[in-house]
Amino acid sequence: MKTLILFYSRTGMTKKVADKLAVIFNADTEEIYDTVNRSGASGYLLSGRDATFKKLTTLKPLIHNINEYELVIIGTPVWAWTMSTPVRTLLTEQKDKINKVAFFCTQGGSGAEKAFIQMAQLLNKKPIASFSLLTKEVAQDKMSDVINDFATKINNS
Ligand SMILES: Cc1cc2nc3c(=O)[nH]c(=O)nc-3n(C[C@H](O)[C@H](O)[C@H](O)COP(=O)(O)O)c2cc1C
Repeated sequence: MKTLILFYSRTGMTKKVADKLAVIFNADTEEIYDTVNRSGASGYLLSGRDATFKKLTTLKPLIHNINEYELVIIGTPVWAWTMSTPVRTLLTEQKDKINKVAFFCTQGGSGAEKAFIQMAQLLNKKPIASFSLLTKEVAQDKMSDVINDFATKINNS
């Protein structure tokens, strides 16, 4: 299945998972970049506010053409118990181009399930598989079981 992984990562955790998935799925991968500076403490506060109020942002243009892929895997950090603002923007702008979809996220503690529900609502499409990992699991490289389950679900879909 021709697969594209699209993800946003503010501090590298979601990127670490995306890089692992890219190898497992032999997929093309693209990091989403925001034009807004979200680094540091002020970036954290801004991001929390943007996520809470479901704001959109301006993304840098994508390189890959989503239309060309049978499956798109979307990765986001959880922000304020929902998806990150750049991923909300991506889904809002690209939803008509997405065929099959799967989700993953990283989070400090909780909010992934709510984020996935809102992502599915935004796309008007259920994911064929999804998983979440805690930041500490990613940092300690404790990801294999969850990722293997995800891969099995996708391969059986
Ligand atoms: C603005 C903001 C809000 C966050 N809100 C949550 C939250 O509601 N629940 C949670 O478990 N983690 C929350 N986090 C923590 C991130 O989800 C977590 O650190 C994630 O692994 C970061 O991924 P990244 O390194 O790819 O950016 C938040 C982080 C930020 C920056």
